Amino acid sequence: MKDLLKISDLNKEEILSILDLADKLKYEKQNGIEHKHLSGKTLGMIFKKASTRTRVSFETGMYQLGGYALFLQENVMQIGRGEPTKDTARVLSRYVDGIMIRTFEQEEVETLAKFSDVPVINGLTDFAHPCQVLADLMTIREYKNDFDNLTMCYIGDGNNMANSLIVGALKVGMNIHIACPKGYEPDSEVLDFAQSFGDKFMLTEDPLVAAQGVDVVYTDVWSSMGDEENAEERAKAFQGIYQVNEDLMSHTDDAIILHCLPAHREEEITNESFEKHAKEIFDEAENRLHAQKAVMVSLMK
Ligand code: CP
Ligand code: NVA
Repeated sequence: MKDLLKISDLNKEEILSILDLADKLKYEKQNGIEHKHLSGKTLGMIFKKASTRTRVSFETGMYQLGGYALFLQENVMQIGRGEPTKDTARVLSRYVDGIMIRTFEQEEVETLAKFSDVPVINGLTDFAHPCQVLADLMTIREYKNDFDNLTMCYIGDGNNMANSLIVGALKVGMNIHIACPKGYEPDSEVLDFAQSFGDKFMLTEDPLVAAQGVDVVYTDVWSSMGDEENAEERAKAFQGIYQVNEDLMSHTDDAIILHCLPAHREEEITNESFEKHAKEIFDEAENRLHAQKAVMVSLMK
């Protein structure tokens, strides 16, 4: 494995080995055990969209591993003035030991990886958010011990998170139910992949059907970065139905709630449900740090 471009690039064993390493790094961090696996190495981080968690967790994670991270914001880079991605890839490969990119098109990440000699990590595209899903799976395992016989439901937009959660959950053996409005379904290739898992996968328009008896409830914003100009129209499709609230939670099997954050309270989740499950949600945010350190060590050591 050279890169992490989408969760489907990993098989079950690779996912589990990243999660095991993430658990170990978390334990070591909590117990003051240093782990400078990437001493002297550098990570270039290209950002074409906003970020709090991804930027801070990659940057501090790299520091904790003994390396250094460069924050390369699009508007101060030549890539932001039209320098081709394939040239940027070849130049950065001469300087850094790994590249993380957050952008719009998945194709750009694939091109960057194709022309780069160093590992490329997808820090979110419109299609996928593999680093988030690894942190989510890590969190699920912390709370539920194992993936066997677990079911997660995802309530809301069939976006980058839904695409990645479907693949990640099915790969580790979980069942996954998606509830989204008509016209906002996950990517068709992801749906084709999911259909091959038979009744381990469910797609419905009814959140209460999706939530029945589940162990994990997941939600994300109705309008992702880049969707803002249609936010009003999108809100109409989701309003009053596609929301994680206490009524929905009462249909689950004492589920935990996960949210990749940032959250829009009273839209995809009520303040009440968010705050009742804040411990899980912020453990999940913390696990971005540990899971990404495991990814960087696996790819860059
Ligand atoms: N969940 C996530 O990727 O957060 P940021 O957008 O803050 O990086
Ligand atoms: N679906 C959201 C996730 C943010 C971490 C977005 O793409 O904006």
